[in-house]
Amino acid sequence: MATKSFVLKVWRQDGPDSPGTVEDLTEYAKDVNEHASFLEMLDLINERLMADGKRPIEFDSDCREGICGQCGCVVNGQAHGSQRGTTVCQLHMRSFEDGQTIVVEPFRATAFPVIKDLVVDRSAFDKIQQAGGYVSVPTGPKPDANSFKIGKEVSDRAFDAAACIGCGACVAACPNASASLFTGAKITQFALMPQGAPERKRRVSRMVETMDDLGFGHCSNIGECEAACPKEISLESIAIMKREYLKAMLAGS
Ligand code: FES
Repeated sequence: MATKSFVLKVWRQDGPDSPGTVEDLTEYAKDVNEHASFLEMLDLINERLMADGKRPIEFDSDCREGICGQCGCVVNGQAHGSQRGTTVCQLHMRSFEDGQTIVVEPFRATAFPVIKDLVVDRSAFDKIQQAGGYVSVPTGPKPDANSFKIGKEVSDRAFDAAACIGCGACVAACPNASASLFTGAKITQFALMPQGAPERKRRVSRMVETMDDLGFGHCSNIGECEAACPKEISLESIAIMKREYLKAMLAGS
């Protein structure tokens, strides 16, 4: 079994109002299986910390398959680490050098307050989603399978936007802490499809205004969000959101 050891520094913060500090956990980061995922490495560190009677590192995770969007932290200054298109739960220790320094911090944004260590409150995303990120389905008989004709190119673009897992890496990576990539993806997946047409104007105006109210910054087209996104959501989503919003405003929605 090939193992690696790391110089590990982790952000520790007891609660939302505590100051927080970087703790050197190098002594716990020795002989880590190089095929362990990043979160499995944190599990191992936690077992060792608890064996020493110390508080384990708090971090979020659920599926550990890059699907749910629950995990997320900043690894060496990059949201989800440096491997493109990869969540931190799918990042493996073989991609790090033996002896490498690894600094782990929470996602930082005013709208994502730190709860404890690497855990942040991302409920602001839920509020944006609740403001309009859905389609209403009338009751009645189900529509025939082919009653909506949708071209492959359009359905592919809508599907790409729908791949957003809402992890918040886009906000953490953006110098303005903008949620435009997330909100744009959630608007785009419906704006391109006929099923999203009835609530189109109301959806974009409510979601964009909720995003602004929650303390996220504005998009200034830097593009860090696209580079950090583990699902490689395109900046096109932001362009579509802006166009949809302008149309809604001109229509008085
Ligand atoms: S734990 Fe589900 S995406 Fe990482």
